[in-house]
Amino acid sequence: MEFSQFPRHIGIIMDGNGRWAKKRGLPRTAGHKVGADVFKKIVRYCSSIGIQYLTIYAFSTENWKRPREEVGMLIKLFEQYLQEALRDFLNENIKVFFMGDTSAFPEELQKLIRDTEEASKNHTGMVLNIALNYGGRAELTRAARLLSEEVKSGKLTPEQITEETFAQKLYTAGQPDPDLIIRPSGENRISNFLLWQSAYSEYVIMDILWPDFKPKDLDRAIKEYANRNRRFGGV
Ligand code: FPP
Repeated sequence: MEFSQFPRHIGIIMDGNGRWAKKRGLPRTAGHKVGADVFKKIVRYCSSIGIQYLTIYAFSTENWKRPREEVGMLIKLFEQYLQEALRDFLNENIKVFFMGDTSAFPEELQKLIRDTEEASKNHTGMVLNIALNYGGRAELTRAARLLSEEVKSGKLTPEQITEETFAQKLYTAGQPDPDLIIRPSGENRISNFLLWQSAYSEYVIMDILWPDFKPKDLDRAIKEYANRNRRFGGV
């Protein structure tokens, strides 16, 4: 498909797994299982059409409030996925990067996270950012803390805190801001996702639940993005 304006960086808020399962009389965890398969397909598809950066919101700082069983299942799905990724991504040239405080997860998952980042660090294809125990506010607070430590130690003066030096302390340091953020499930909310980086992102809210999301839906979102007139505050 040809587009007049093509996004370099896409963000996706995977949403609607619970509702998808409920509609079918299934436990919420069944929705997450299908959601994980959709995630894999969409990652491959984005890489195949030349998206350079893909950031996926997989677990937020607020998701710990969910029932223990659901959190446990999500952690299991992340572990399964990373075990597969360690095998498959070696051939796929995708560079995987994690955003968020992953130290809160079980040691086994933390090890898989470290191993996946290490195994893919020299890859030159699409960068896949997986947001795990991520929250935009937590990310901004962390950046402020890192900068204040540098000021305290004399490495930086307060005047040297600029938008550029601030952005360097975010998980996405060195990456372009997302051009397009897709939110399936019809919710009109940012939900603490990429608060700093999405200042000028185009949001496409889609009336589809994540487990039903197909590559053609991604095409639809890119098409809508291509028709937007981005002005970045100008005219
Ligand atoms: C939001 O839907 C979805 C999540 C909080 C979890 C997303 C995680 C996966 C799809 C698991 C697989 C991910 C990877 C990286 C392998 P929801 O449960 O809030 O849906 P609802 O709003 O309908 O209840």
